[in-house]
Amino acid sequence: MTTSSMRKNIAEQAIAFLGEAYYELGKTEEEAKRRIEEVLKQLEDTGYYTHTYEELRHGAKMAWRNNNRCIGRLFWQTLEVFDARDIVDELDAAKRIFQHMSYATNGGRIRPAITIFPASHSQNNIRIWNHQLVRYAGYREGEVIIGDPDSAAFTAVCEKLGWSGEGTRFDVLPLVISLSGKSPKWYELPKENVLEVALTHPENQEFEQLALQWYAVPFISDMELEIGGIMYKAAPFNGWYMGTEIGARNLSDTSRYNQLPSVAKLFQFDMSTNTSLWKDRALTELNVAVLHSFKKQGVSIVDHHTASEQFLRFEKQEQEQGRAVTGRWSWLIPPMSPATTGIWHRSFDDTERTPAYRVQAVPY
Ligand code: ARG
Repeated sequence: MTTSSMRKNIAEQAIAFLGEAYYELGKTEEEAKRRIEEVLKQLEDTGYYTHTYEELRHGAKMAWRNNNRCIGRLFWQTLEVFDARDIVDELDAAKRIFQHMSYATNGGRIRPAITIFPASHSQNNIRIWNHQLVRYAGYREGEVIIGDPDSAAFTAVCEKLGWSGEGTRFDVLPLVISLSGKSPKWYELPKENVLEVALTHPENQEFEQLALQWYAVPFISDMELEIGGIMYKAAPFNGWYMGTEIGARNLSDTSRYNQLPSVAKLFQFDMSTNTSLWKDRALTELNVAVLHSFKKQGVSIVDHHTASEQFLRFEKQEQEQGRAVTGRWSWLIPPMSPATTGIWHRSFDDTERTPAYRVQAVPY
């Protein structure tokens, strides 16, 4: 199964991870040494090794801490880690996911969490085909797309598998899971596990006529988690939203919901010239509506100014622990008014550390 060079690679990764994690967990050098020996023996015998729950838990947190693209890392230690390495079939996996969704959503008081499924080398190797657990369908109708254009390819896959949606702009896609390379199974998400927020504006009563909404919790489900040389290809995780992700990207990108023109019309901004800054003004009103609506409904969300301050606190906290923070500036700056935040005026080292969450190829 594994070649000797693969084994050597895993061994090196394992030693580095265990050394670091055990130190951070306050264990003795003796304990770390004993564990490393045990892992090397397992590697020798089987080509792989199995993380203890404690290692899994801390590894997932370190991977969050290491994610150069994430502005929300101040909270890395609060991650709840669900161990789902013991699933028996697809339905069992789906149920673990629904439990995660319910725990994380928590009636709006969102809790960061991750569910870790069997590692890629195990018999029950599993993939979640969705980009996020909750995502809106995008139906291609000739030149136009109804719904979220970002979901067009996956929506077509779901339809091929026998799913069909109502055809609105905001149809929640089904969960699609494949196990051990078998053809995938799909499950409708239980309604009670999908919290959504209808958008209203604090001053403009007509805003609700736009009939915009977004889901409450971003659950990224297509990234691979690497801990100490072991790959977890299904490890869906969530935090809470920063308002601009919805208001300055999902709903406003021209390649997504493209709502700035509708918002500008509603507010009667002068769209005949760029110099009225109608796009910027519409962007602001849309983002005001996102933050206002989430808050009004009691759903956790952070604005980009606060998130930037939190990130700089995270950096300070890490320095105090003797760890240098890595980051990717182009991802850390928010997509609106970036120069009004402290992050803009800084630069970051974009070296990638492990444990890590990584983008992987789609399975379809
Ligand atoms: N940007 C993605 C979206 O708008 C979500 C990425 C993760 N975001 C987060 N706040 N954890 O859906």
